[in-house]
Amino acid sequence: MSGDARKTAEGLAYLSGFGNEHSSEAVPGALPEGRNSPQRAPLGLYAEQLSGTAFTEPRAHNRRSWLYRIRPSAAHPAFTRTDNGALRTAPFHEAVPDPNRLRWNPLPEPPAGTDFLAGLWTLGGNGDASRRAGMAVHLYHATSSMDRVFSDADGELLIVPERGGLLLHTEFGQLHVEPSHIALIPRGVRFRVELLDATARGYVCENYGAAFRLPDLGPIGANGLANARDFRAPVAAYEDVEGPVEVVNKFCGNLWTATYDHSPLDVVAWHGNHVPYTYDLRRFNVIGTISYDHPDPSIFTVLTSPSDTPGLAGVDFVVFAPRWLVGEDTFRPPYFHRNVMSEYMGLVEGAYDAKAEGFVPGGGSLHNTMSAHGPDRDTFDRASAAELRPQKIDDGLAFMFETRWPITLTPHAAHAEHLQQGYDNVWQGLERHFHPLH
Ligand SMILES: [Fe+2]
Repeated sequence: MSGDARKTAEGLAYLSGFGNEHSSEAVPGALPEGRNSPQRAPLGLYAEQLSGTAFTEPRAHNRRSWLYRIRPSAAHPAFTRTDNGALRTAPFHEAVPDPNRLRWNPLPEPPAGTDFLAGLWTLGGNGDASRRAGMAVHLYHATSSMDRVFSDADGELLIVPERGGLLLHTEFGQLHVEPSHIALIPRGVRFRVELLDATARGYVCENYGAAFRLPDLGPIGANGLANARDFRAPVAAYEDVEGPVEVVNKFCGNLWTATYDHSPLDVVAWHGNHVPYTYDLRRFNVIGTISYDHPDPSIFTVLTSPSDTPGLAGVDFVVFAPRWLVGEDTFRPPYFHRNVMSEYMGLVEGAYDAKAEGFVPGGGSLHNTMSAHGPDRDTFDRASAAELRPQKIDDGLAFMFETRWPITLTPHAAHAEHLQQGYDNVWQGLERHFHPLH
């Protein structure tokens, strides 16, 4: 499975902001030449546009794709409400926003037969999905492949696997994702998740705001950070399935279900730039100091969802990838800080260089707006005394969803058994070293 699955994606350079088009066809001749919606689409297919931005948004930001499919998406019965499980949506106002520093262990093992959708568990978020602003942090723990199809009208889904490979069957084709990769499913795109291992665990950032894009590079120049050529789009692949298929739609925070008489993953060819993709975080080009101090962690931004205010992201996806530390006369771990932005951190593997213990793969921490945090006492003592030779940090892969507004928890996250007690203690024992000069 995995050998073939790796051939499911090919390079895509559309995230660079040039409005680049990408196209793929599962059957030669399925893509119409020269027009999007000819009087009769090739091979008896239906032509359909999927818009990820308003028709009139600037070209550099505009996202849309044309799909050539066996049946139009409009051919479906009415949706009815179904249970939301542990999935919640902004606005979050059931729990009181908490200024405390919080940390969780991994999600507990779910019951057998839990698929990706049923395994989603919302930690919290901000904004308002119906206003297309803000974000949610979800975790997932699944033990079974989906035999239903899901789509999210509320936002795009940035999936960060921590344990277990996934084969994402999307309208645009298949994407193979392993831990250390990310996958992005654009708003409204239908997909189902096949597990490539017995269990699958990870994180999801649901972004209600503007679509993630590559950050501008400014003085860095034309290359660096995440390079556009490393983002992979699916090769067109379709399911020609007649028979009942459950399709679940997330809309304004609720799940709705309908049983189709065919698979909606029936797109034979497509072109456009509102497209799912994967990216291998190991390909991130890490940039840091070669003199002293270290840059703010924004230098590790993989993808950003801009807001209406220049430089202020609705949410940034930031990775702490393997890198060399060479700064002279520098406290090399992340410094103590308080941040107007709110930081949810997760760990894909290994360890993170600001925490001695307790921050484990599959777990996560939340440092909300202006909460004071930084290295724990052991890390401070070690880094303050270390001999500053060039040093490779290569034993972990941590990431951050950094967002403009405080993250309000769901009640089940605020009262979870896997919420660690006493996280504040990691900053206890930071001794007074002050010696005023006389
Ligand atoms: Fe921080």
